[in-house]
Amino acid sequence: MDLAWSQAILCILLPPVCIYVFFVQLHWKSWKYLSSGRDMMMAMADQCGDAAFSVPIPGNRLHLFTSKRHWDELNSTSLDVLSNHAWSKDMLQPKAAFGYDWSDRRNEEGMPIVRAIRTISNQFSILRPECVRILEQDFNQAMESNPSGKNAIGRVPLWPTIQFSLARITTLMICGEDVANDPEFMERSVKFLDEAGKVAEATKILPSFISPVVKMLIQGRNLNRDYVYATIANKTEEFRRAKAASEDTKELPKTILNAFMETVPDDWPTTRVVHIVNTLWYSASQGITVLAAHLIQDIYTHESHIRDLQQECRGVLDDADSDMSKLPLLEAFLMESMRTKCFQSTTIHRVALGKPYTFSDGYSVPAGEILSFLQHKVYSDDTLYAEARNFHPARFQGSGRAATDMPGMEWAFWGNSKLAW
Ligand code: HEM
Repeated sequence: MDLAWSQAILCILLPPVCIYVFFVQLHWKSWKYLSSGRDMMMAMADQCGDAAFSVPIPGNRLHLFTSKRHWDELNSTSLDVLSNHAWSKDMLQPKAAFGYDWSDRRNEEGMPIVRAIRTISNQFSILRPECVRILEQDFNQAMESNPSGKNAIGRVPLWPTIQFSLARITTLMICGEDVANDPEFMERSVKFLDEAGKVAEATKILPSFISPVVKMLIQGRNLNRDYVYATIANKTEEFRRAKAASEDTKELPKTILNAFMETVPDDWPTTRVVHIVNTLWYSASQGITVLAAHLIQDIYTHESHIRDLQQECRGVLDDADSDMSKLPLLEAFLMESMRTKCFQSTTIHRVALGKPYTFSDGYSVPAGEILSFLQHKVYSDDTLYAEARNFHPARFQGSGRAATDMPGMEWAFWGNSKLAW
């Protein structure tokens, strides 16, 4: 759309929209959640102790708990009663951001992709050297395009570099090397990540009559999104042709898409595969990028450990046969970074489906409202982590714990056992 037209439309629509957003759609506390939600939740958790509580968020209400009793009860409640799929719809606004929707309930259709991820994760060591090569290539390129100044210090824009590199690694795992090395796919897909995120947020906070206009301003004619979908569709068709042409080779699938295609019925339409794979690609690219950005920030703000970290990684990361347990300092850094930054202050997000959900202590979550575990509260508890607010690189060293552990509410980054896979 012509820029002058866009600006004119914005000037006309913005004042009534602002008034509507401030006074009708949001009351001031839910607006405040957008700017300081984490502080609000932590302060309320301090006041409430073990009791559950709630905060208004734009367009909905978020109920939070921190106690073991609530954790156990939620863990034993069916996903048909407290649904993670309904929450993901509320969060990602797929209809607006992706152009398709999914059901409120986690049905059997969701399982083939989970199995496919498991297959590729189990053989991740095969992909590891290529992941390291991608990181090296992207960081070297960023260094070259930002040459060092007089004091030999080069500046690399952290977020765009990591976002690009981690999106490539996710693409490698899901779609394969050729797609991850396609510059046009990578450029358009990273733009699509940003656009879809903005559309989802705009859809949540703006009145429904205005969000299509804002969506059009952000996504234009959906060129980036269409390119991503067309690429996934091509890879799907490629797999189908290869399968039809050859005998079963018993070769291990190299991508999540291939592992997925081996388990789904042959008559599934390509668009159905594209939507599922796109949802996975989008969600996987998001979390892992923030986590990596925090880790790099923490490494470079604790410079005295850099030499030891380099020493430890030498010969391990780029060797597919090496044992990842040989990186205890890096693992400890990652865990302390996850604990202190805690990029998602809440986890195990659920929506009460159809009727209110009531805990045994009488706390009730009305139908359609969101229930989550405030994990940041646990990681900031001085009785569990001495001087919990401080970053201690060695805190987890020798603890026998790993970042990927799922022991329960004391390390809830990956959810609870309801969705364990
Ligand atoms: C920092 C990175 C990540 C974090 C913190 C994270 C965390 C989570 C959490 C908390 C859940 C929901 C658990 C629950 O509600 O009980 C989840 C679900 C899921 N995650 Fe991740 N995840 C990450 C990266 C990834 C990646 C890289 C992939 C795939 C390649 C992935 C695939 C999935 C899938 C498919 C589900 C849904 C599982 C199901 O429905 O059974 N995640 N993740």
